[in-house]
Amino acid sequence: MPNPVNDTDTLRIALQKSGRLTDKTIQLLEGIGLKFDDYKRNLLVKCHNFDVELLLIRDDDIPEYVQDGVCDLGFVGANVTAERGADVTVLRNLDYGICRLSIATPKSGGLDTVEDLDGKTIATSYPSLTRQYFENLPVDIEPIYISGAVEITPRLDVADAIVDIVSTGNTLKANGLREIETIFESETQLIQTNKSISQAKIELIEKFLLRIDGHQQAERSRYIMMNAPKDSMERIKDIIPSLNSPTVVPLANEDMIAIHTVIPIDEFWQVMEKLKEEGASGIVVLPIESMIA
Ligand code: PRP
Ligand code: ZN
Repeated sequence: MPNPVNDTDTLRIALQKSGRLTDKTIQLLEGIGLKFDDYKRNLLVKCHNFDVELLLIRDDDIPEYVQDGVCDLGFVGANVTAERGADVTVLRNLDYGICRLSIATPKSGGLDTVEDLDGKTIATSYPSLTRQYFENLPVDIEPIYISGAVEITPRLDVADAIVDIVSTGNTLKANGLREIETIFESETQLIQTNKSISQAKIELIEKFLLRIDGHQQAERSRYIMMNAPKDSMERIKDIIPSLNSPTVVPLANEDMIAIHTVIPIDEFWQVMEKLKEEGASGIVVLPIESMIA
């Protein structure tokens, strides 16, 4: 290993140096109040207001670094950890960096189903997950390991098909390929080393998780304020799937009240429509910074 095990009390967290997960992970860390220097120029970045340092490396290296205890935590796609077969603990699934590992073939060429791939070559940066998938099928394929730009290999006659990460699907489309099967669904995960770590670090991780959970919950919620006729209050309370009971404030117009509450984002429009029906007006919706139970 290039680095020794991280045995100081500073929590070392690995994240992708430049790629799909980098900006969203940095946004998450800033969103939970961590302040640090320019992460674009340095590999090891010290956090100013939390006992944390960030190690910016290739995503493919993150599972091993965490497994070996070089880093205590890591933000990495489930696809990478699964491919590496790393021995780590998944602390949280984070709903960004959502993608899938799929089999794709040239649009024309007759490779329409998984069965058509019998005896064919498949280029991939995910040989282990590819092998695991085909192991259970009566389809013999020959995987070819390629570390990058896998999508170009069918056009170069290097391989008949590919197994690669698909997010928007633009890369496949641009290369005349189409998905025929998904073999693994992925999202970003926060992983922890299974090597033993100090009590100080365990406590730091607890605090870190509390902040992440508060941030995630806030992202999935909205603060709403509205005015409503006083006599509709009971019906409005029934509509609002509130975490706590809503705050009700009297208004200068004695027939009206103001209601403040928090609602989950996925129920937002449904709730909004019902509130309108009950005579709610002047509805204001605000994002929430964090929520601590
Ligand atoms: C994947 C894959 C494609 C791209 C697909 O790379 O190899 O290049 O993302 O995305 P799209 O469907 O939105 O076009 P990844 O981001 O995992 O980068 P890496 O392999 O360099 O780590
Ligand atoms: Zn990668």
